[in-house]
Amino acid sequence: MSERVANLLYRSETSILPGSAAAEHLLGRARVRNSQLGLTGFLHHEEGFFFQWLEGPAANLAAVQKIIESDPRHEAVTYLHRGTEAVPQFPDWRMGYSQHEDDSLLEWLAREPVAQIKREAYARSILMFLKERSRAQHA
Ligand SMILES: Cc1cc2nc3c(=O)[nH]c(=O)nc-3n(C[C@H](O)[C@H](O)[C@H](O)COP(=O)(O)O)c2cc1C
Repeated sequence: MSERVANLLYRSETSILPGSAAAEHLLGRARVRNSQLGLTGFLHHEEGFFFQWLEGPAANLAAVQKIIESDPRHEAVTYLHRGTEAVPQFPDWRMGYSQHEDDSLLEWLAREPVAQIKREAYARSILMFLKERSRAQHA
């Protein structure tokens, strides 16, 4: 029996600009570490927010979660979902990245209004957006 894939989704606030050198640097570091630790996921960056789905072996995910939480490049990290699944959502992505100019998550959420207080439905909607971005970028 193979181990289940642990995952998390959070939102945070940042002053880093999408597509900036600082964003590229962070992503480069993240991808190297994720590939060493067997983690995958997708990061969307828009209007001063990060939304990130990260998944993999539970112990490695917990270790990287601590690194992310203490990273001064963002603040107010708010978890929207934590769980486990049989298979990863983003198996091919060491860390995908999209920004407002690719598509707007905030507009997506406005078109498909889900109250933030309904945490699981809200998280699902964000996950659907990230999956759509990952499919678009595969082309
Ligand atoms: C929004 C955000 C997402 C991040 N995602 C990951 C990640 O997926 N994997 C990872 O190992 N580190 C992740 N990090 C941590 C950074 O990659 C890492 O702490 C930073 O780039 C260290 O760079 P430095 O050594 O130049 O200070 C993330 C940090 C932020 C702010």
